[in-house]
Amino acid sequence: EKGGYEHFMAKEIMEQPKAFRDTVFPRIQDGRVVLDDLNLDGDYLRETDKIYIIACGSSYHVGMVAKYILEKLLRKPVEVSLASEFRYCDPLVTEKTLCIVISQSGETIDTLAALREAKRLGARILSIVNVVGSSIARESDDVLYTWAGPEIAVATTKAYSTQLAVIYLIALRFAELLGTISGEIYDHIVSELLTIPTKMEHILENREAIQYYASIYFNHESIFFIGRNIDYAIGLEGSLKLKEISYIHSEAYAAGELKHGTISLIEQGTLVVALASCTQLFDKLMSNVVEVKSRGADVLGLTVESRAEAMKKTVDHAILVPDTHPMLLPSLDVLPMQLFAYYVALMRGCDIDKPRNLAKSVTVE
Ligand code: F6R
Repeated sequence: EKGGYEHFMAKEIMEQPKAFRDTVFPRIQDGRVVLDDLNLDGDYLRETDKIYIIACGSSYHVGMVAKYILEKLLRKPVEVSLASEFRYCDPLVTEKTLCIVISQSGETIDTLAALREAKRLGARILSIVNVVGSSIARESDDVLYTWAGPEIAVATTKAYSTQLAVIYLIALRFAELLGTISGEIYDHIVSELLTIPTKMEHILENREAIQYYASIYFNHESIFFIGRNIDYAIGLEGSLKLKEISYIHSEAYAAGELKHGTISLIEQGTLVVALASCTQLFDKLMSNVVEVKSRGADVLGLTVESRAEAMKKTVDHAILVPDTHPMLLPSLDVLPMQLFAYYVALMRGCDIDKPRNLAKSVTVE
C-alpha cells in the first residue's frame, strides 16, 4: 500500500504532481478558472470588506502564503489567524467578512470551533478541505475540495500542496469577479499554473541532490530557515516539517528580523536554510546570507534557476527550482523542504510516518 516506498510520507511527496493536477486541471476550462462548487458572485465580493483565514499547523502556513497572494490580487485586507487564537481574541468579524477555513482532515477541533464562532458572528464560510463530508465541510457555506486522496503520514505534504493550489484558483476567480486583474496577467498565471505539475516532477526526479545535502547536515541540532515575503511563509513550513519528523530544533525567521535578536544564536557551523525564490527580494536576502556567513554559518540556499549563478557565489550549496510566476513559486519551493526533512529524519532513524507525540487529526483541544 506504500506503492514501493519505504514510508507513506515518501509516497505522498511523490504523489504531489498528480494531486495538484487532480485538484486544478478539471477546474480550468478553455483557459478560465471555473469553480462550479462556489456560490459567490462579484456583488458579494465587492461588499466583502475583509477576508479572514483560519487554520492550524501546515494549513495555517498555506494561509500565510494566501495572504500575500490574495492581498496582491484582490486589494482587500486579509488576516490569517491560528484557529486556537481566533476563538479567544474577540475577532473583528461581521456579515461583511469572508472566512476561509483550511483543513486537510476537516475535523481539527480548534478549526471547527473557530468556524462556528465566525458563523455566529455572521461571516460567510468558505472551506478548503480534503476529506469529503467531514465536519468542517458539512458546516461551511461553500466547500472547495482538495483532491489529494487519503493522506496517511502524520506530516502533511500533498494536502498542503493541493490547499495552495486551491488558493491560486480562488485568487484568480475572485480577482476576475472583482475586476482587479488584467486579462494579460490572468492568462499568464493560468498558463503557468498548468506547467506546475511538470516542474514538480522535475524537482522530485532530482531528489538525490537534496538527499546529499541531508547527509551533510543531518547531525545538526539547530537549524534556521530565513526568507522574506512568500519565502518566509515557506520557511515556516520547512521548519515545521523538519522539527516534526526529525526532532531537530529549528526556527523560521523573516530574514529582516534576524538582527533584532536571533542572529545572536548564529555561530560556527550553524545551518541556515536561506530561501530566496522571490526575485524582487533576492539581493536583500543575499545580504542577510552574507551576515550569517560572516558569523560562521553554513548556508543552504534555495532559488530559481535564473538566479543560480548569483546565488552560488554566496552560499555553500544551492537548491534550484524552475522559474515560474512568483505567485506560484511556493508550490515548487516547498518540495525540496519536504524532501530535506524526510531525508534528514531517515538518516536519524526516526519514525517518519508516526512522529512521537503527534496524531494525524487533532480532535482534542
Ligand atoms: C504538519 C501537520 C499539522 C496539520 C494541522 C492541521 O505536518 O500535518 O500541522 O497541518 O494539524 O490539520 P488539518 O489540516 O487536518 O486541520
